[in-house]
Amino acid sequence: MSSQTIILITGANSGVGFAAAKVIASASPSYHVLVGSRNPENGKKAVSELQAQGSIKGTLTDIQIDVNDQASIDAASKVIEDRFGHLDVLLNNAGVGPPDGELRTQLERTFQTNVIGPMVVTHTLTPLLLKSRNPYSIYVTSGLGSLSMAADPNDPYYQARYDIYRASKAALNMLMIQETKELGPKGVKTFAVCPGLVRSNLRGKTEQDISAGGYAGDPEVSGQTLLSVIEGKRDADVGRAVHKDGVHPW
Ligand SMILES: NC(=O)c1ccc[n+]([C@@H]2O[C@H](COP(=O)([O-])OP(=O)(O)OC[C@H]3O[C@@H](n4cnc5c(N)ncnc54)[C@H](OP(=O)(O)O)[C@@H]3O)[C@@H](O)[C@H]2O)c1
Repeated sequence: MSSQTIILITGANSGVGFAAAKVIASASPSYHVLVGSRNPENGKKAVSELQAQGSIKGTLTDIQIDVNDQASIDAASKVIEDRFGHLDVLLNNAGVGPPDGELRTQLERTFQTNVIGPMVVTHTLTPLLLKSRNPYSIYVTSGLGSLSMAADPNDPYYQARYDIYRASKAALNMLMIQETKELGPKGVKTFAVCPGLVRSNLRGKTEQDISAGGYAGDPEVSGQTLLSVIEGKRDADVGRAVHKDGVHPW
């Protein structure tokens, strides 16, 4: 078994995933980050960019994984099994923002990538997680998925619509809670982690979209939050939706 901690991040060629790969691989030589990308060229480019940063202490490999393609998930699982024999951290980060199209298409696309994809990825990789000495299963959620915050007229995001996106993250949170009951007794620590409002391509690719009109922060702060979970610093909040400064209400 590799002595390094093996960490798979889905959707790591961009935004929160890319920043998390940078922060985690910069934290310790003991981390090996599998930079997941649905487009192999983007994954290779991301690894090259990360290795050029100068801060990297750990190791990085690109890995193709499309969370909506079972053959791709199975192939990634086999690569990890053959090379490492186990997986220590599964960081389900890949996600999509509000898509275009008619209502049914928007619902299907959003739930496919934000809910069905991550759960199937976890289901497929659970046997490898169970071979880890200290496994973590982490889902990147959003405060927008909180039912009580959505229903609170005093919440700053009360007026924010993104109805389908919000519903997808609420569903992801529920499945995360249920996973905690199943895998917790087997030693897996399951978390939802909200990265905060940060710069990324989630809302589109214009500067206005990337910066959320100037309100979005640095995704490396999200990476630090994710690192703190992997380091065990948030273990008291296992099974909850944690963020930089605390825990979101359901
Ligand atoms: N940024 C924020 O303010 C914010 C706030 C709360 C939560 N989040 C969450 O953070 C996570 C990361 O999003 P982001 O903000 O970093 O947006 P992003 O820059 O658009 O990154 C999303 C990543 O997911 C990948 N992806 C999309 N569909 C995929 C699929 N079917 N299979 C594999 N990868 C796929 C994208 O790949 P491509 O490059 O190929 O499209 C990209 O690498 C999401 O779960 C999002 O909901 C973000």
